[in-house]
Amino acid sequence: MSRVIGIDGPSGAGKSSVSRIVGERLGFLHVDSGALYRILTWQCLEAGVDMENPAAIHAFCEGVEIELRPGNGSVEYYVGGEAPGSRIRTPEINANASKVAREKPVRDKVTAILKGMVRFGDLVVEGRDITTAVFPDSPARFYLTASAEARAMRRQKEEIEKGIANQSAEDVKASLLARDAIDSTRKYAPLRKADGVIEIDSSFLTLEQVVEAVLDALPEEWKS
Ligand code: DC
Repeated sequence: MSRVIGIDGPSGAGKSSVSRIVGERLGFLHVDSGALYRILTWQCLEAGVDMENPAAIHAFCEGVEIELRPGNGSVEYYVGGEAPGSRIRTPEINANASKVAREKPVRDKVTAILKGMVRFGDLVVEGRDITTAVFPDSPARFYLTASAEARAMRRQKEEIEKGIANQSAEDVKASLLARDAIDSTRKYAPLRKADGVIEIDSSFLTLEQVVEAVLDALPEEWKS
């Protein structure tokens, strides 16, 4: 049986960095579930799908094939043989991803893909509904959060470093809060802190401190 660590939380709380490092330390594959919603959003935009038409989004997403390649510490995704790279990290994708992620048929598709990944081995999966809907029975479930200011500052720094965008801190914060609002109020699998999850507020913690907090809270039998 594969072991799964689930890490949910709002954008910019540090889920990616934390889950990547936790995965490396334990030899668990890192899984970025948000990237699957981003890939579907990217494909919709490329195909000119009307993003205000849920039926068009459902019909199109159903046909998108995402190839999974486990290796290099994570499960990597390919579409038509190509890695999406920074094409799924643009402000346009940020602004449209929630419209795709709120649709039930799309969520069902992504949830099935994620559940199937246990065939690759032990996983650390980050997202919004991993602890509530995808792997709700995992004994290692975390809700990672941080203040809106801390999250916006981190996201802005990351975007500038990666050369993806050059938005002001205020614009980044507004975009984060808009996405949080949609992600936490949507009808299907909204972002919420599930009962029994371990909450970590990273506003005043270093990355290493958050990683340690996650590792410390794992079931004893997983630590050796
Ligand atoms: O974590 P992210 O910013 O890459 O996520 C992209 C979008 O997908 C965002 O709107 C939240 C959504 N998402 C989701 O609904 N469920 C997940 N498990 C992961 C992401």
